[in-house]
Amino acid sequence: MQICRSIVEMRAAVGAMSGSIGLVTTMGALHAGHMALVKAASTHDNVVATIFVNPTQFGDPSDLDTYPRTETEDLALLEQAGVAAVFIPTVGEIYPEGEETIVESTNLANVFHGLVRPGHYRGVATVVTKLFNIIRADAAYFGEKDYQQLAVIRTMVRDLHMPIAIHGVQTVREHDGLAMSSRNIRLTPADRAAAPILIAALTAAEVMIQGGATVEAAHDIIAATIATEPLATLGAIDIVDPATFAPAAGTPSGPVGIMISAEFGEVMLIDQKEVTP
Ligand code: PAF
Repeated sequence: MQICRSIVEMRAAVGAMSGSIGLVTTMGALHAGHMALVKAASTHDNVVATIFVNPTQFGDPSDLDTYPRTETEDLALLEQAGVAAVFIPTVGEIYPEGEETIVESTNLANVFHGLVRPGHYRGVATVVTKLFNIIRADAAYFGEKDYQQLAVIRTMVRDLHMPIAIHGVQTVREHDGLAMSSRNIRLTPADRAAAPILIAALTAAEVMIQGGATVEAAHDIIAATIATEPLATLGAIDIVDPATFAPAAGTPSGPVGIMISAEFGEVMLIDQKEVTP
């Protein structure tokens, strides 16, 4: 497995590859969710992974400082999974002195989770564009857990005519249903025990919608379920039409995407479910 720390090295590595390239972009602290993306990308002749804790998508500097960094373990996992090359750039390599160009979706970045995390999706779209331009893969794989991120990236690729296919990969969960996330290791044992309230809330909403309830009733059951857990502070509940990302209302006639977030101590977790009535 080639380890590339500069854009020049990364471009040389992909230039020497024959056949198709599947890309998995990560911020490291890899877990089974990331490895599911690598597995999905392995349908290509070559898999390229990136590890870059992207400062522009963090609002709170302490969140950036405490983001887990486990490079040695990450490299061992990627090597074992047969990844051909990994790109681990410095911040200066990605954001050189004087750079001033950003990529932002004008609507999607600023609604739903984007309201709770201003600037977050701008940072994601900008770094993902840079990584796409450096690696020039045929396809890239993103987790469905970051539902809005996936929508932002799909929209950006469509709008900017980027020659890359985007694939969503189903959320991988712990034995108790907690969605795998690099943030989970920052939870205290008590918060970790409380965090499956997210999937409990999503499942309660799913049961209601499948029983013919309205989006508003689903919203209320999510809030009520999360309120039963004293260690959880509800962030946002958004229920949308997955095709347009417009807010859903009333009794849905087709699938709805439910996105929720809650804070456990200092750690903000998100989860999502697509539900068909
Ligand atoms: O999902 C992530 O890990 C990040 O948001 C991404 C896509 C690697 C961009 O930094």
